[in-house]
Amino acid sequence: MWRWVIGGTVGVLLLGCWMYERVAVLPSPALSIQSLQRKGNIPFSNEHTLSGKQSAEMHAAFYLALPDDNVEKYVGKGVPLSDMQYVPVNLVELERSQTLHIQGERLLRKEAYEQLVQLSLAFYEQFQQPLMVISAYRSYQYQKQQIAESCKVSGYCAREGESEHQLGLAVDLREATNEATFLAQYQQYYDWLMANAHLYGFHQSYQKGKATDGYAIEPWHWRYLGKELAKQLWEQQMTFSEWVFGTGSKQWE
Ligand code: DAL
Ligand code: ZN
Repeated sequence: MWRWVIGGTVGVLLLGCWMYERVAVLPSPALSIQSLQRKGNIPFSNEHTLSGKQSAEMHAAFYLALPDDNVEKYVGKGVPLSDMQYVPVNLVELERSQTLHIQGERLLRKEAYEQLVQLSLAFYEQFQQPLMVISAYRSYQYQKQQIAESCKVSGYCAREGESEHQLGLAVDLREATNEATFLAQYQQYYDWLMANAHLYGFHQSYQKGKATDGYAIEPWHWRYLGKELAKQLWEQQMTFSEWVFGTGSKQWE
């Protein structure tokens, strides 16, 4: 009798271990192989089974391999654009309005700009203050120049070819100083944006620090990712880097 009980228990444990290895374990439970397939870039059939490690690698590879003009394209520290000199085709000029003020760079991809305007309307309704855009699209050459000139001081620049600003999808809302100085001045705006920006497709890329996101915390930096992905990240309280690589998995340079 006891032999049967012990034998059965061991059998169940072995089966559990085998299934764990076979079934895909993705960084996010909300994102399945099927949902990546729906996005159109996964060369596996639904029947194909993957180990956890394989599927996590595939998850990262998916976002890294997206074309540069895909709104969900991942770029980051040591993870450049496919074309280092990439220039988005649909850049539009930001217009100053009652709800949106612009200093510095003023180009953004059309889809990001349209949602930024909507975000600024909601922001204005809340604070009776315009949303201040200090930086937007930065070309490869301009980013290089920034690194040579101002970033040496601030230390908050990506290398040319590795910046979300070069995607034409990132904005700096208020000036890049440092986390403490910024939050001392703008905490209430920041808190509101953290609670609401995802409704307009924006995500705060660098909110957890170098070990997680590759860069120091930048509470001014917002990246357009589209409403679907921005909402998923917000719900799971994950940064885009964590989503792509898994929490704590990426060794940054
Ligand atoms: N400040 C961010 C990392 C950039 O330059 O893209
Ligand atoms: Zn930025």
